[in-house]
Amino acid sequence: MNVILLGAPGAGKGTQAEVISARLGIPTISTGNMLRAAVKEGTEYGLKAKAAMDSGALVSDDIVIGILKDRIAQDDCKKGFILDGFPRTVPQAEALDAMGVKIDKVIELAVDEELIKKRLTGRRVCLKCGATYHVTNKAPKVEGVCDVCGEPLAIRKDDEPATVIDRLKTYHEKTAPLKDYYEAQGKLATVEGTNDIEGTADMMIKSLEG
Ligand code: AP5
Ligand code: MG
Repeated sequence: MNVILLGAPGAGKGTQAEVISARLGIPTISTGNMLRAAVKEGTEYGLKAKAAMDSGALVSDDIVIGILKDRIAQDDCKKGFILDGFPRTVPQAEALDAMGVKIDKVIELAVDEELIKKRLTGRRVCLKCGATYHVTNKAPKVEGVCDVCGEPLAIRKDDEPATVIDRLKTYHEKTAPLKDYYEAQGKLATVEGTNDIEGTADMMIKSLEG
């Protein structure tokens, strides 16, 4: 099954991708995590992406489509995958269609902006493996340390309140039109993302099975 997770920053895409990936046994492809790893390593595309990411804007379609193409061609994606954070623009969705990638379902996680702001203020991430935590909603076993790989946890630079406002604006302008794009293909389902993590995951699985 090939699934796209859509939703505003902080809606819970990465968190749900982790749960669904474990339940369905298919990998998650997160362009945000891949770009953050590239920035950390200082690779050529990491250097190009950094300024856009720090300001809450999108990285250019060319860079992101290139990263996605390479990743999706890997063997572990053959039995299905979850896309978290891609596509983000209509040209990215068109590129996916042009690659001949068949998408089975697109789930939009709907969460209001006040809740999003609370979630992003308390978020902590592992820059090595991409695992996501929250200081109260999903605390790591040892404060400040990743449960999965033992790395120190970080606060994402783009989680500063002013940048969150810019990211929400970018989402409404560039990414929200994808709802109409996939509605027209009969693939869009909306799931309320306001419940707790497990409750939301149950609704996502139900939607995928339906
Ligand atoms: P990206 O990393 O994709 O960020 P985003 O879309 O802004 O989304 P977030 O990761 O902030 O939120 P999320 O929905 O994953 O929420 P999470 O699960 O962490 O992209 C970052 C940047 O990279 C972009 O701004 C752009 O510059 C660039 N980029 C990436 N992809 C691109 C593309 N395709 N094209 C161009 N540029 C691209 O949850 C948030 C918090 O809430 C966590 O602390 C979590 O523990 C908590 N939480 C989650 N669910 C619940 C729940 N149900 N109950 C309680 N707490 C919860
Ligand atoms: Mg994420």
